[in-house]
Amino acid sequence: MSDSDHTAARTTLLRLLTGHMAPQVIHAATHLGLPDLLASGVAGTDELAARTETHAPSLGRLLRAMACIGLVTEPTASRYELTPMGALLRRDNDDSLNATVLLNFRDEAWRSWGELLYSVKTGSPSFEHIYEARAFEYFASKPELGGIFNQAMAEHTHQAARDIVAGHDFGGYSTVVDVGGNDGTLLSAVLTANPDTKGILFDTAEGTAQAPQALRHAGVDKRCEIVSGDFFEAVPQGGDAYVLKSVIHDWDDERSETILKSCRSAMTDGSVLLLIEPVMPDRADASLTVPMVISDINMLVYTGGCERTESQFAALLTTAGFELTSIGSPLQPTDYRVVEARPV
Ligand SMILES: C[S@@+](CC[C@H](N)C(=O)[O-])C[C@H]1O[C@@H](n2cnc3c(N)ncnc32)[C@H](O)[C@@H]1O
Repeated sequence: MSDSDHTAARTTLLRLLTGHMAPQVIHAATHLGLPDLLASGVAGTDELAARTETHAPSLGRLLRAMACIGLVTEPTASRYELTPMGALLRRDNDDSLNATVLLNFRDEAWRSWGELLYSVKTGSPSFEHIYEARAFEYFASKPELGGIFNQAMAEHTHQAARDIVAGHDFGGYSTVVDVGGNDGTLLSAVLTANPDTKGILFDTAEGTAQAPQALRHAGVDKRCEIVSGDFFEAVPQGGDAYVLKSVIHDWDDERSETILKSCRSAMTDGSVLLLIEPVMPDRADASLTVPMVISDINMLVYTGGCERTESQFAALLTTAGFELTSIGSPLQPTDYRVVEARPV
């Protein structure tokens, strides 16, 4: 290795090793509500310190760090203005990532990732080891956290839904059942793009807590029924397409098979199953992306699920009574692909 390659490798490694620190700046700023306080324009350090009840010199250092990573600019000394990237942390931004920040920096996330080694050694979710509960049951027992989780899912899916609807034609289906559809962000996008299609949104009572409001806001509530229940028991009948986005990756093969069998029991022979997930390459080649592996490790520490390869999807679908019929291209700029399967 040449000297310059060696220096570059060391610099890259150092950057990775401090990778958790800049996000702490984002979290502190979001937790204090600075993006919302800066929404109306430029503000100075002292005013912001008074409004956030913080130590002004230290807040000044936080604001300088925010400027350095691109959340604000400092047009005049000690006065700050939000950048377009910083504005994505405002709660009222349509493309907000506010709840995503709050979820990722909760103790639950921080401690679960902190115990990654436990999961690697045992193959079990560190979350369950630490909190002695399955993640979704734990979320259900903590309404405030459940609300942040639902909001973070909606934020994540909000933008992806546009790409999914643009990249996959849902127009041929008369009723789409979104299994584990949370607040209906994806189903809203599907129904908005296809005015003749009806929807059934299925999730737990906690998962659908924000759904009535979200479907109304999207103007699709009259065409969408909300059903709450447990997909390990049963899912609603009546759809010609059953969509599961970011659901199967939450679970190990055994539990995934149970969910898919619930779908199979509800479906007619002519219905189609659409899993919307990234598809892992067989090897760490150029198609492997950082979001894919982060999501995969997230599943390892939280729920015991994983991101799957094509052959893993095919095997899982076969055991649940389906045949994998096609896998679409990645719905750019996301890694999501539509894995289509039909009952056999
Ligand atoms: C990772 S989220 C994905 C949400 C949504 N499909 C999306 O992509 O934005 C997984 C969803 O599965 C739901 N879920 C978890 N356990 C469930 C169960 N036993 N029955 C029905 N839904 C469940 C959660 O409430 C949550 O909304």
